[in-house]
Amino acid sequence: MASHNAGKVREIRELLTPFKADVVSAGELNLPEPEETALTFTGNAELKALAAAKGAKLPSLADDSGLVIDALDGAPGIYSARWAGPTKDFAVAFARIQREMAGETNTRAHFVCALSLAWPDGHCDSFEGKISGHLTFPPQGLKGFGYDPIFIADGYSVTFAQMEPHEKHAISHRADAFRQLVAACFQ
Ligand code: IMP
Repeated sequence: MASHNAGKVREIRELLTPFKADVVSAGELNLPEPEETALTFTGNAELKALAAAKGAKLPSLADDSGLVIDALDGAPGIYSARWAGPTKDFAVAFARIQREMAGETNTRAHFVCALSLAWPDGHCDSFEGKISGHLTFPPQGLKGFGYDPIFIADGYSVTFAQMEPHEKHAISHRADAFRQLVAACFQ
């Protein structure tokens, strides 16, 4: 798993449980984190997956994901992690979103997840998933990670951070991308 993000590694491990895959993270292998220089979720996922596949000499799965806010022209988007600052404090990101959305009535947003599966020979397949919803302030809930406390998926009345992990996994952007990957690679 080409990630140093414990929240993502945990979710992907859970999604892979039925496939009996033995998952080791790039962090556990002490692989360096490549710079995310691409301008799309899929571009960054491919870059991370290929770097880890080469470094570990193992098939590698990378996730690049983020929150896309309509009223902010798609920000923070591929910069979602960076908006939380070097200490990864999401209170900082929530405050910036609230500040930049002051007076805005359109709270529509969606999460995107690009999953790329790369092989040491340089071959790579990518899948992109999405979940739409709206933002809510103040942040609510302690489960999940990242932007979960401010996001309510369409058809629900609680944030991702208030849902049980299995409920989020059933509908999330990551689950959507994962279903496409499973259909293409495991069936
Ligand atoms: P990156 O893909 O590692 O560049 O970072 C993705 C960013 O989007 C991180 O800051 C995550 O916290 C955020 N993010 C991705 N997926 C989710 C999710 O399922 N819930 C909440 N935040 C997420």
